Parts: sequence; structure tokens; C-alpha cells
Amino acid sequence: MNNWRNMVQSKLVSAGQAVQNIQSGDRVVTGHACGEPCALIEAMIARAPELTNVEIVHMVAMGPAKYAQPGMEKSFRHNALFVGGTTRKAVEEKRADFTPCFFSEIPRLFTDGILPVDVALIQVTPPDAEGYCSYGVSADYTKPAAESARLVIAQVNSYVPRTGGARIHLDAINLIVEQDEPLIELKPPKIGDVEKAIGENVARLIPDGATLQLGIGAIPDAVLLFLTDKKDLGIHSEMFSDGVVVLAEAGVITNRKKTINTGKFMATFLMGTKKLYDFVNNNPAVELHSVDYINDPYIVGQHDNMISINSALQVDLMGQVNAEMIGSRQFSGVGGQVDFIRGASCSLNGRSIIALPSTAAGGKISRIACELDRGAAVTTSRNDVHYVVTEFGVAELRGKTLRERAKALIGISHPDFRSSLMLDAQAKGLI
Ligand code: COA
Repeated sequence: MNNWRNMVQSKLVSAGQAVQNIQSGDRVVTGHACGEPCALIEAMIARAPELTNVEIVHMVAMGPAKYAQPGMEKSFRHNALFVGGTTRKAVEEKRADFTPCFFSEIPRLFTDGILPVDVALIQVTPPDAEGYCSYGVSADYTKPAAESARLVIAQVNSYVPRTGGARIHLDAINLIVEQDEPLIELKPPKIGDVEKAIGENVARLIPDGATLQLGIGAIPDAVLLFLTDKKDLGIHSEMFSDGVVVLAEAGVITNRKKTINTGKFMATFLMGTKKLYDFVNNNPAVELHSVDYINDPYIVGQHDNMISINSALQVDLMGQVNAEMIGSRQFSGVGGQVDFIRGASCSLNGRSIIALPSTAAGGKISRIACELDRGAAVTTSRNDVHYVVTEFGVAELRGKTLRERAKALIGISHPDFRSSLMLDAQAKGLI
């Protein structure tokens, strides 16, 4: 559409002009992860001296999250749906809040009026011939937030890759800021020997033709390294990254055997480098949809051979998983972990896998623990966990008694901790 600017001339403004419409006391929801509309957020931050008590709702904040920095708390109160490197301290110091919620259910906070949205700051592609802009790398809660906001401000950025699925028409955008800038990138993580050993153990649990959900980080990327001999894998995942591109180009991921959305890479957001963004741009096999579809356990469960792979900070000897707290400190959030674990449980021949290194803090702490740390939350309940995997092997928990679970988990703990775990388990009456 060459003449789209003429059609929306009254909506075309600078970032500074657009954010003049944010008022003190508003709830602002920002585009997610690498889809963050950086120019709009920057312009909003510049108004800090004039604003008070603006609530910023954001999940994975990949940008600098200046609204959560010390000194900003009078102007902006961050409501984190997930805690990350740039927001953790603010939550810890009570300058920001954390709201627990399954990722699949976040859209309903907005659409059902539980957290009514005043302003949605989103980032999209330029419009197509019919006037539709693609949500690019972030459909997740961004689309439902935009659909329920009083005011939608969009950064139209030609660097955003055009993905299929979620889109918004120019008519549904109130203010348009045309500003091109490269997307935020997530660099590939460092994969060490421990991650490789975990990856190899997880790969053994993945049959040809399986549909995969992969979490974020070194472990999911390490798993991908060991899948090169598999056939016809598929992707239905909250997100995916560069590692999936490598396997797609090698012909390992074909999506041919997926029970639904056959032939398609399905996700709700994407995080990676330009390599990923180039791969998904105008790729008819890639679709992004809102998280209430992609992460819906009922949708996930319709895939036969669905395998969910997620990580954790700690697993206790009953199989309870803590993936989000270090003691009473909120470290991350539930994200889509439980959505996919529940979905994989419903799937014919589905498997849910929790994969984690056996130790933390340079080997000083066992992540297989007799009990979860005092103050920590249970992210995934013991009833939901099928497999726990460390670099020392695989513990299958489904259908196992408490006694069997404790023994299996001690068996995959670091050898340095096995005898003390055994003593603790005996003292607790688990064994
Ligand atoms: N006690 C104390 N410290 C611990 C610990 C424990 N039990 N477990 C981990 N740590 C420390 C690590 O040593 C590390 O510290 P460092 O950064 O100083 O080295 C830090 O916590 C992070 O641990 P790590 O294992 O590197 O985390 P990660 O980046 O691989 O993330 C999760 C792991 C569990 C936090 C992450 O996967 C997550 O947030 N999961 C929940 C959401 C989810 O599963 N989403 C899935 C769909 S995308």
C-alpha cells in the first residue's frame, strides 16, 4: 500500500507527540520481549517529570526498562508479569510489583476488564495492501491488550519482520509513529558441557515426528544440538529462537507430522538475532497468534507426541518444581511453563520434561533439594511432572510413588550431594 500515509495522515505523529496522550494514573501495556516499541517507551520515559503514578504492565522486558530504575517510582509503577534482569531489582526493592498469572490467561486480565488498559504501546510492520500491519515478533498479550485499550499507539517499524497470523488494521490504531530501528536481539546463550549433557539426555526422550515446545535459554538450545538425526519434528511453542532455524534449514523440523496446524511453525513471540528475524519475514510457514491460543493447554494437547521442555531453579524430592524464586526473591515467573506441561499431559503420547543442571552457585548448591527453599513458590505441581532431567540422567516421575520419586531424583542429583539428600529424605520419612 503506497498511499497509506495519505489515508492516515491525521494519525501520523512523532513519538513525543504520541505520548502526550498518556495521563497520570493511566495503565500502559507495552509490547513484549523483542517486540518492545523502543522509541515509544523512550519518549514516555522523557515525560517522567510531568507524570505521576503511571502503571507500566510488561512481561519479559528486553530493553533497559528505565521506568523501573531508582528515582522513577513517583512517575512510573512497574507491574511485572515476569521478572528479568532489568526489572528484578525493582521488584526486590518494592519499587515495582509482580503479578503471578499463567501466560495463557494474561489476555483475559485485559479483555475481561480485570486490568483495564488505558494505553497500548505496540510495534508493528508497515501495512500491507489491505492496510493490515503484522505484529511481527510479539503477538502474545500485545494483540489482546491493543484490542481492549482505550488508546493504541503504534510504532511502525520497517525492521519488524512480517509474520503470518496476528495483525492489526490501520483503522484500529489511534496514533502512528513511523520510526525505523533494528529490533532488540537475544544473543545465543553459552552452552557448556553440563548443558550439552542435559541436551543429550533430553534428546533421547524425543521421538521422530514429535511437536516441541522449547523454553528460553541454554538448555533448550543445547537440546536442539542433539536433534540433528531426528525426522519431521514440529514446533508449537510459546517462543522459538535461532536454534530452530538451524534445524529447519537442515530439514529436521518440517512440521509435516503435526496433528493440527500441519506444516506451520506456531508461536506467540520470537526472540533471537537477525538470522531468526530474516527467517520468519514473509515466511508462509510461520504464524504468530495471541498467547490465549498458542499456550491454551487444550490447543497444545491436541498435538499427538507433544513434548514440552522447560527449566527450573529447584526440584524437591516429591517432584515439586520451583522455576521462579530463589528463596523468597522473585527471580522470573511462571511464563508458559504450566500451560505447556498441562497441554503435554493431555496429548496422545505427550511428555513434559523439566531439565536443569544438578547444581547452582558453582556447584555449592544442589538444585535437587529435599525441600524447596523457604519462601519459594511451587511453579509446577508434583502431579504434573513427567520427567526431570539433569546432566546425570533422567528421573521418570509419572506414576511413581513418593518413595520411588525421591530415589529417582536423588539418582540424578550431583554425586557430591547424594548421601546428604538420602539422609534428609530418610529424616523426612520420604524413603
Ligand atoms: N539456589 C540458588 N541459586 C540458584 C538456584 C538455586 N536453587 N538455581 C539457580 N540459581 C542461580 C544460578 O546459579 C544462576 O546464577 P548466576 O546468574 O549468578 O550464575 C541464576 O540463579 C540463574 O540460573 P540459571 O539456571 O542460569 O537460569 P536460566 O537463565 O537457565 O533460567 C529459569 C532458568 C528456571 C529461571 C527459567 O527457565 C525460567 O524463568 N523458567 C520459568 C518460565 C518458563 O519455564 N517459561 C517457559 C516457556 S518460555
